[in-house]
Amino acid sequence: MRYDFTTCPDRRGTGSLKWERHAGRDILPMWVADMDFLSPTEVIDALRRRADHGVFGYTVPPRSTVEATVAYLHEKHGADVAAEHIVWFPGLVPALNIACRAFLKPGEEALTCTPVYPPFLSAPDYAGVGLRTVDLSESHGVWDIDFDALEAAVSPRTKMFILCNPHNPVGRVFPVATIARLAEFCLHHDLLLISDEIHCDLVLDDVPHTSGLKFAGDGGPRTVAMFAPSKTFNLAGLACAFLVIPDAETRRVFQRAARGLITEINAFGYVGCETALRHGWAWQQELLGVLRANRDHLEKFVAKSRPSIRTWHVEATYLAWLDARELGQANVTKFFEDHGVGLSDGVPFGAPSGFVRLNFGCTRAQLDEALRRMAGALQNA
Ligand SMILES: Cc1ncc(COP(=O)(O)O)c(C=O)c1O
Repeated sequence: MRYDFTTCPDRRGTGSLKWERHAGRDILPMWVADMDFLSPTEVIDALRRRADHGVFGYTVPPRSTVEATVAYLHEKHGADVAAEHIVWFPGLVPALNIACRAFLKPGEEALTCTPVYPPFLSAPDYAGVGLRTVDLSESHGVWDIDFDALEAAVSPRTKMFILCNPHNPVGRVFPVATIARLAEFCLHHDLLLISDEIHCDLVLDDVPHTSGLKFAGDGGPRTVAMFAPSKTFNLAGLACAFLVIPDAETRRVFQRAARGLITEINAFGYVGCETALRHGWAWQQELLGVLRANRDHLEKFVAKSRPSIRTWHVEATYLAWLDARELGQANVTKFFEDHGVGLSDGVPFGAPSGFVRLNFGCTRAQLDEALRRMAGALQNA
């Protein structure tokens, strides 16, 4: 291994969202989606060089960053994107919220599939528009989009479909046929397709990610595809993301809604993004090996713990979705915290009480300790 995935600097006292939540308590944070690993050495070195320059004025997208991004989309995701189709943003969450303001009027609504990353459910509400949700289907351990339920749910008020691609929290990489069918569905009902692809370079199995961009353009739905280096390369704190909006009018409407609210990306964000997309792939390959091993380890643990908890095979992301309803705890997240493990509660994802999400993007030593504590919790239940 060229990179170190066995140690992580102590993150306490660094303003880490993940580690601050349980500060002062003996609780291992296995919740919010960032990883307890150093970012690629190449990125750290490039940030140091940028800091050495010493001037940090307002920054526009550097030409070399845009070129690296266009090349990345082509090489990794088969998307041929013109530079002017890219919109830089400080994050996917603000982009989602601006999209709801830009494209939905009061009385109109977005549609999405649950369980899902909570900001998908709050963004329409914050924008004062409606939301309709449809449960993902689950059969023999495989999650899917329930198109019959979508057809039943869609109405003339529905103007947008928000897709999590790959899917957080269930870790599903939807097959190309599913994305094609969804594009067809959006086209048929004249829905804007928002495709959140932040986890697209964290595919752990030998299955291809299909970008929503594949079906954008002539004969396809209007599409906003959203990307960032933040999950893959552990750069969330640099606040740099990019959207691809191929349709000029859609892009104009989106950018107008963001005017005066969203400022320039910070200078370090561009450096981190460009360096990761150009030079981060050897690190990413090693990371995928580590995450696969952690996932397999966790899945074995859960298999031994059945029926008190169960999980689903994670094809992508470093997040596992756990069904702990059998434990019969009124507050299962608090129950695990009381046993020293901090998980994300499932309710904000649109799930019934009793589900939790576990982040296994950490050293094996940390995961082992978390599982040891969880085993103790299960014994006490
Ligand atoms: C599906 C998904 N979208 C977006 C985000 C966060 O995006 P950002 O930090 O760019 O706002 C996350 C973080 O966990 C996520 O899982």
